[in-house]
Amino acid sequence: MMSLAWPLFRITEQAALAAWPQTGCGDKNKIDGLAVTAMRQSLNEVAMRGKIVIGEGEIDHAPMLYIGEEVGTGTGPSVDIAVDPIEGTRMVAMGQNNALSVMALAPQGSLLHAPDMYMRKLVVNRQAKGAINLALSLEENLRNIAAALNKPLTSLRMATLDKPRHQAVIQQAAQLGVKVFALPDGDVAASVLTCQQHHPFDVMYAIGGAPEGVISACAVKALDGDMQAELIDFCQAKGETAEHRLIANDELRRCKQMGVAVNRVYTLDELVGSQDILFSATGVTGGDLLHGVQKTENGVSTQTLLIGGIDRTCNIIDSLHCW
Ligand code: FBP
Repeated sequence: MMSLAWPLFRITEQAALAAWPQTGCGDKNKIDGLAVTAMRQSLNEVAMRGKIVIGEGEIDHAPMLYIGEEVGTGTGPSVDIAVDPIEGTRMVAMGQNNALSVMALAPQGSLLHAPDMYMRKLVVNRQAKGAINLALSLEENLRNIAAALNKPLTSLRMATLDKPRHQAVIQQAAQLGVKVFALPDGDVAASVLTCQQHHPFDVMYAIGGAPEGVISACAVKALDGDMQAELIDFCQAKGETAEHRLIANDELRRCKQMGVAVNRVYTLDELVGSQDILFSATGVTGGDLLHGVQKTENGVSTQTLLIGGIDRTCNIIDSLHCW
């Protein structure tokens, strides 16, 4: 896997570089399409037998690196790939912060193979490892995490997404005195930030995309944090309507095909079954985790976070690209 580290970070760089010129254009699908094309082209130049086991696209009908797609030259290590060419397409479209291009690799058969549906996720760092249980209520989890960290609930910092479906959770946490950081989008960055050494958050709780969940799980595992997740259907995330029920039924059918279960708690080891992980995220627009693409005198610069699970290293790679 380590031989794939260099090609991997170049892939998220290429996707970020392809999307970035369209920052602020207002068209999510155009941005996603540019990143997907660049990512696919770079992936197919890498000496590996890669398979996309979880990827984005169908939730919002965006262009996608589809689940089951085989990538790479067809020689070299056999790997599972989880992709999100642009994590935060809306942010790039609206010229807002915190958008990334992200991808994670692990040996074949080790990443959760699931449809692109919603997932409930709970992430903590190594100090609170073992203190989470998604089968319990959020309040019980927050109390257990605070106890593990030996701090009062009023000092606990929780990251979540600022979505209508989280209003009750945000209110509940705030009533307990927990400090809530409700980000507009981007639970991968929030999960990584929760697990980093100088972490701005103690816990990340959100319902977001399953691909983002599996990608996050790779980083969480490499950083020795903890995570649990539950696939939930479209109606549970967005409310019960006839139209949503059709989508939910289709998700249930696809889950059955792929051998995964809705409303079952998956542990970190079930989300990622190997320590031999590579995670790469390149900033598209600047944010808390990474700088975005920036113009320089002769070209542009990018910043990438490359995490290795075997050697437990975090590398920040600043690249200059001459155009
Ligand atoms: P994408 O830009 O890849 O769609 O992801 C942004 C994001 O905020 C993710 O971090 C999160 O998991 C997901 O969207 C939540 O989905 P929704 O936007 O449908 O609430």
